[in-house]
Amino acid sequence: MTEKNIIAVVGATGAQGGGLARAILNDSASPFAVRAITRKPDSDNAKALAAAGAQVVQADLDDPASVKRAFDGAWGAFCVTNFWEHFSPEKEMEQAKTLADAAKDAGLKHVIWSTLEDTRKRVPVDDDRMPTLMDKYKVPHFDGKGASDHFFKESGVATTCLLTSFYWDNLIHFGMGPKPGEDGELVFALPMGDKKLPGMAVEDIGRCAYGILKRADEFSGKTVGITGEHLTGAEMAAALGKAFGRKVTYFDVPFEMYRGFDFPGAADLGNMFQYKHDFESEFCGARSVEFSRSLNPALQDFSSWLAANKDKIELTEAASG
Ligand SMILES: NC(=O)c1ccc[n+]([C@@H]2O[C@H](COP(=O)([O-])OP(=O)(O)OC[C@H]3O[C@@H](n4cnc5c(N)ncnc54)[C@H](OP(=O)(O)O)[C@@H]3O)[C@@H](O)[C@H]2O)c1
Repeated sequence: MTEKNIIAVVGATGAQGGGLARAILNDSASPFAVRAITRKPDSDNAKALAAAGAQVVQADLDDPASVKRAFDGAWGAFCVTNFWEHFSPEKEMEQAKTLADAAKDAGLKHVIWSTLEDTRKRVPVDDDRMPTLMDKYKVPHFDGKGASDHFFKESGVATTCLLTSFYWDNLIHFGMGPKPGEDGELVFALPMGDKKLPGMAVEDIGRCAYGILKRADEFSGKTVGITGEHLTGAEMAAALGKAFGRKVTYFDVPFEMYRGFDFPGAADLGNMFQYKHDFESEFCGARSVEFSRSLNPALQDFSSWLAANKDKIELTEAASG
């Protein structure tokens, strides 16, 4: 039996990395084996990966030596950082550098870096169309990732920078699904005006990443963008209405109102939606459905994702808008 090339999957116990780990583990003919990187090898998700055939290795992105050990002997790596755990772009950049350094040290043949745009290239900090956050960012959870691309480029390791899209799963896990308004009718609130939002099933991010690894030479040194479908808020509301068999009305939340919502990260997300709105053609243009489907023939559009997931969307909380 030929040895399989090991992919060290950062975030394997989470959404993006988990999708990649499952894509590899579910393909018995895969040329790759999964090394699941986690801080908590005893967690249920880590145990499930081990039971499905992954090697589980403990490492912490805040401990560079542990990441180097975890990458040792691997062929490639999938690298993702989780801004929402600490809300610090500086920490995210530090972790990205740790990943790039470890990839170089281990002599990896290919790395996928899950990134997003540094929005300051289009909206400099002195552009007052949206507030500057934490003194030097416009969309902190985007900017730190985009500002980290160079660590991978400078490492000399063949890297694909992967621009991901809004997870439709946010409608389940982030309370972004439709909610009843005062009259009991469902309202889908999103600050996107009449512009299109590229979205996708998070499980498809990992499946697309798997497609990239299988054609790694083609994507070395490239930035590629993936998405399941580009839809306006009104189109999403219509698809939701069809899925639930109820009227769903789109509420176009003003950016300023969204930034003022009372949850951590509201200003960051308000700026993010404004960026996607103001740069619709660039943002959508960087994320092609056809390209994503070429990497992952099972790519879901919003309606097919809804058909499989609508029962998980909580419809009962009061509308926040
Ligand atoms: N929500 C969206 O629509 C969206 C869209 C595009 C991009 N993103 C980006 O996606 C990222 C999060 O990815 P996700 O959704 O896959 O995350 P997730 O499901 O919340 O899981 C986070 C993963 O990161 C791992 N992790 C976090 N800190 C770590 C550390 N210090 N050392 C080692 N592993 C660590 C966790 O592993 P253990 O806990 O097992 O150690 C876990 O597997 C965020 O940065 C976000 O900005 C989100």
